[in-house]
Amino acid sequence: MSAQRQETVRRLAAPDITARKGGVPIVCLTAYTAPMAELLDDHCDLLLVGDSVGMVVHGLPNTVGVTLEMMILHGQAVMRTSKKAMVVVDMPFGSYEGAPENAYQNAVRIMKETGASAVKVESGSTVVETIEYLVKRGVPVMGHVGLRPQAVLVDGGFKAKGRAGEERARILEEAKATAAAGAFAVVVEGVAEGLAREITEAIAVPTIGIGASAGCDGQILVTDDMLGLFDWTPKFVRRYADLRGEISKAIAGYADDVRQRTFPGPAEIYFAKAANT
Ligand code: KIV
Repeated sequence: MSAQRQETVRRLAAPDITARKGGVPIVCLTAYTAPMAELLDDHCDLLLVGDSVGMVVHGLPNTVGVTLEMMILHGQAVMRTSKKAMVVVDMPFGSYEGAPENAYQNAVRIMKETGASAVKVESGSTVVETIEYLVKRGVPVMGHVGLRPQAVLVDGGFKAKGRAGEERARILEEAKATAAAGAFAVVVEGVAEGLAREITEAIAVPTIGIGASAGCDGQILVTDDMLGLFDWTPKFVRRYADLRGEISKAIAGYADDVRQRTFPGPAEIYFAKAANT
């Protein structure tokens, strides 16, 4: 990065994202590592250090096993190389659902140790009081309604939500309560398209859709999904690359070269210096 860019770039903050309600769509992606964050930073308004890191990077079956320490480590990596995008760190399962005071201690730890600008919580009705508690004490909070991955063991799988009746009404109410509690934006995941639009119209802060609706105020995807790093992706993911295929091709090429002793070649080795030079 040039010295000039360093001087002029200001990192986006929660009020900048909130001010984008109804405007140019907000571009968000997940980031877990320093090199990826550097690549994403020029193109994204917001980078989410999602607890999906547990499944994507650490091979966990779901996000329930993700720890505060994991989120802090990945948050630090993303903060080191991003300059412009707002960085939000997910609060992992078990770090915010109890007493608001505990949630506050954990959120403060995340913000102090990573330098990130906000945290995200999966905002069921029991978490609304905590969102208000955090925001009143200076912690910007992003909500997350609809399909809540941390509730996977209660729900019995990653299923689309709010396609009918009582569940639809409940999610709408949770989104409204999350916004009323002071969240600066709300992720809306895996819900019927019409519900995502209704939430977007009903709340005063931006909705960030994932498997939701093009009518949301912004979109987010898991970066590794949209880059084609997995052989299976959910229906709502559009693949913009086939990195799994590219990586496999590259590794096969390297393995062939090693076995045939064509790597390293003359350009890739050091020769002894001539004497007295
Ligand atoms: O953990 C995560 O990556 C998320 C996004 C999918 C919204 O919560």
